[in-house]
Amino acid sequence: MKDFFLLLVILFFLCGTASAKEVNREKCASYINMYCTRCHTSGRICDGLKKNDEDGWRKIISEMAENDSDIDQDVQVTVHACLTSMPADDPVVCAKKSD
Ligand code: HEC
Repeated sequence: MKDFFLLLVILFFLCGTASAKEVNREKCASYINMYCTRCHTSGRICDGLKKNDEDGWRKIISEMAENDSDIDQDVQVTVHACLTSMPADDPVVCAKKSD
């Protein structure tokens, strides 16, 4: 019985983290195009996918936000969730490779 509850807790936890990580790709594309390609192309972000983990992106995104007040908390959290869930060659940021 104890094991059963433990299993339930683990399952609950797994589902919770899975749904927290679920991101809306259309929202990702529109946020990134709207806020992240004003100063440079998305090619720079594409390169970043290969180099950055969650912490790396957190640092970069807050640096970017320092230079553009439109990148508010909502944009930062959304873009962070997007970038940390993308494969290294995601077309949302890698379609146009030029910098
Ligand atoms: C206000 C202009 C501006 C906006 C808006 C902006 N960036 Fe940047 N970004 C820069 C500049 C300038 C650099 C180069 C800074 C450097 O090399 O230290 C840069 C560099 C980068 C890099 C490369 C960093 C590295 O160290 O490799 C990435 C990745 C990046 N930006 C992602 C983003 C993302 C994601 C967004 C949207 C949340 C964004 N940028 C929005 C100006 C901007």
